[in-house]
Amino acid sequence: MNKSIKILAVALMAFGAAGAAAAKEQTKAEDTRAGAPAAKLMQVAEDVAPNPDDPNAPPPGSRKADGSAVYPNPVSDLAKKDGYKFEDGRYRNKDGDPQPIVTKDYQVDWGTWNGFRRYHDACHVCHGPNALGSTFAPALADSLKTMDYNTFIATVSGGKRESKGGTEFVMPSFGEDKNIMCYIDDIYTYIKARSLDILPPGRPNGREDISPDAKKAADDCTG
Ligand code: HEC
Repeated sequence: MNKSIKILAVALMAFGAAGAAAAKEQTKAEDTRAGAPAAKLMQVAEDVAPNPDDPNAPPPGSRKADGSAVYPNPVSDLAKKDGYKFEDGRYRNKDGDPQPIVTKDYQVDWGTWNGFRRYHDACHVCHGPNALGSTFAPALADSLKTMDYNTFIATVSGGKRESKGGTEFVMPSFGEDKNIMCYIDDIYTYIKARSLDILPPGRPNGREDISPDAKKAADDCTG
């Protein structure tokens, strides 16, 4: 087992435990932060009755808390068109890595939305707003143009340091921090969206609702 894989495995074991408080708090915060564009998206959705027999019906990720479908759903429509599957609470590419979905008018999947918030809580102090970097830490929007998913997770979990011209540049290790590691796939999809140039700087215009699977995964992890 190489070192980065081992760090990843340890991180995954550490965060397999269950619980709900933090995720609940987060969902509450989400409701008030959703903002006008998301509310508008949902209003449109409510005006159109979902048809459960429709083969193009949206995946669980586009369902409301009461289980009813948000329909039409431009995010899941786009994901389907581009051939991404919805699995374990998020869109994934053919390798199974989390994939950001961003429509032309910047509606995003749940993970990308949540990642936008969490990046600006936990990473932007060093890496700059909108993943554009600072004098202290690299622009992660550039890093993810070449860095793969597993390396990203291992770096955040294990940390990194480099000394340049007598200054020590330290990337802290977040492996023990559930507030980061339980949402690291969300943070990844947000930065990935920035690195793919499909999401401009700033807050996305709207989002899907959290899916039951994503909610359960967060609840289990934050335990
Ligand atoms: C205290 C400042 C600080 C914070 C907070 C921080 N980082 Fe870093 N990060 C750094 C520094 C400095 C480096 C460069 C380290 C080096 O060159 O060895 C770095 C490097 C990285 C890298 C490797 C980039 C590359 O191109 O090699 C990734 C990925 C990363 N950070 C992700 C994150 C994420 C995600 C967060 C938020 C959860 C975060 N960092 C929070 C300081 C920070």
